[in-house]
Amino acid sequence: MGDNDKKGLLIVFEGTDGTGKSTQLQLLYNILHDKGYPVIATREPTDGKYGRKIRELYINRKNYSHEEELELFLADRREHVDKLLNPALKRGEIILCDRYFLSTAAYQGAIGFDPETILSRNSFAPDPDLALLFQTPVNVGITRIISDRGDTLNDFEQNESLEKVAEIFSGIDRPYIKTIDATGSIESVHQAVMGHIATLFANSSFLPLN
Ligand code: TMP
Repeated sequence: MGDNDKKGLLIVFEGTDGTGKSTQLQLLYNILHDKGYPVIATREPTDGKYGRKIRELYINRKNYSHEEELELFLADRREHVDKLLNPALKRGEIILCDRYFLSTAAYQGAIGFDPETILSRNSFAPDPDLALLFQTPVNVGITRIISDRGDTLNDFEQNESLEKVAEIFSGIDRPYIKTIDATGSIESVHQAVMGHIATLFANSSFLPLN
């Protein structure tokens, strides 16, 4: 897609598991929606055919080779970009996306692929206008998953590999990445999110936030 076709904004929420990014995405969605902005919320893995296969993979990651795992995330993204993201950007919508290609670089990077090579294999996908990278110590995220969500850890959420994932996330250097300290209260993290959104809108064709 040429830049001239793109009228909307792509805002992605990234970070290790349990950083609260999905809660923050929902809070932002509610505010933008109530203020009348043309906003949509989506996530990766998607609920499409590849996304469903990926959810199978969570349960037993060992059934898939590393290359198959990476290919599934790329196929899911390709479908997401073609069917939803590019058309919505062209219509001038604001997309809030829970995880995107930085997650592939970090999570599949943690199983041995070179993160920059992964990013180049994502060149079909539009760059985000803003990637909010939520950061907490990994053990805080894991405690949140277990106690708040009442969940057990899946194959992606083991402590040692999440440390590696967090390290790769922090090492990726792109102008659109803004890190957010997500150890504080939901409200304080939300204020940090709103600060970045206000700056983004002020530099876009959308009405300023107030
Ligand atoms: P979530 O739905 O809780 O965010 O979980 C999605 C899991 O999938 C999470 O552990 C990260 C992982 N994942 C990857 O490994 N690669 C990717 O490209 C994406 C989008 C997610």
